[in-house]
Amino acid sequence: MQNIPLVNVKAQFAQIQTEAEKQVLEILRSGAYILGQHNKAFETELAEYVGAKYAVPVKSGTDALFVALRAAGIQAGDEVITTPFTFIATAEAIRYLGATPIFVDIEPESYCIDVDQIEKKITPKTKAILPVHLFGQAADIDALETIAQKHNLLIIGDACQSIGVEYKGRPLGGLLTAECYSFYPTKNLGGCGEGGAVTTNDPEIADKVRILRAHGMRETYKHETIGYNMRLDEIQCCILRLKLQKLTAWTKRRQEIAKIYNAAFQGVAGLQIPLVKNYSNHIYHQYALLADKREAMQKYLKDNGVGTAVHYPILLNLQVAFADLNLPAGSFPVAESVAQKIFSIPVYPELTDAEVSYAIEKVREGAQL
Ligand SMILES: Cc1ncc(COP(=O)(O)O)c(C=O)c1O
Repeated sequence: MQNIPLVNVKAQFAQIQTEAEKQVLEILRSGAYILGQHNKAFETELAEYVGAKYAVPVKSGTDALFVALRAAGIQAGDEVITTPFTFIATAEAIRYLGATPIFVDIEPESYCIDVDQIEKKITPKTKAILPVHLFGQAADIDALETIAQKHNLLIIGDACQSIGVEYKGRPLGGLLTAECYSFYPTKNLGGCGEGGAVTTNDPEIADKVRILRAHGMRETYKHETIGYNMRLDEIQCCILRLKLQKLTAWTKRRQEIAKIYNAAFQGVAGLQIPLVKNYSNHIYHQYALLADKREAMQKYLKDNGVGTAVHYPILLNLQVAFADLNLPAGSFPVAESVAQKIFSIPVYPELTDAEVSYAIEKVREGAQL
């Protein structure tokens, strides 16, 4: 039996190990740990990679979402439209500001927000839309822009799972008011700890995020506003820079594996392969299948050494943390049905062809249970 975990952070580190150990040691010996040369260089390299004028690294994807919303002017009492089928951080960030997340169902192919259902949720309190580019493909930016322009709303994107995604051939990072990225270790670009970034083409947003992440400070000990301690340290920036050099090749390998999976699972009874909208590419942060008999499938894969996980088993409106929103089961039928069937299988670039074949064999067997 083979053992193929869902993610393998150690295998990824091995690819940068020699250079990383050398450079981290240099940082340790330099004494320059915060906002040094690696932060500066990472800002430029990341901005270029995601197609934005500015990239401001912060402590996590959650911080990126929170601080981007604050920089865009979201305040207590405002409403922000988003999806219930995401990691909780998306809606937590809205709540941190005293604003209210207003959930809209997802569309059944991309699992991103169903743009056609947004307008009926807009009220005089609505200030922004927060689409999640889930699993590695973009939400429908043009359709969102049309609604945002009509109702004078901002759009802040949650691209925590979508570094390197393109919408209609244009890199995502500069298309909206701001995009928010996560460098959590298991992300496509993952650090050796927490990390995140806000990217934008708007100099004012970039400037505000830059100040907010450092105690509201532009000049040492001059505080323009109450800010936060959200600076990403030099060791993280250094590791992320090294990995960024490899990210395009890693993404290609993820796409190659997904293509092999798609061909192997297409038409298998009881299984639905991930679908990709024609306006987006897919960078497969997750390769997520729908299975009619998910529980049996997951057990079979576990028993045969193939790691899986469910992203996400419980919609945000059904979480205790959002009980006050009073949105019972049945409120978002598409997301609910997807949440009951979805599961992710390993798709990281270090998988060997033999491991991919083994995973395919076991998934196909699992579908026959
Ligand atoms: C969709 C989504 N939003 C937000 C986050 C939060 O990012 P972080 O864990 O870096 O705070 C994550 C990742 O964990 C995520 O997947």
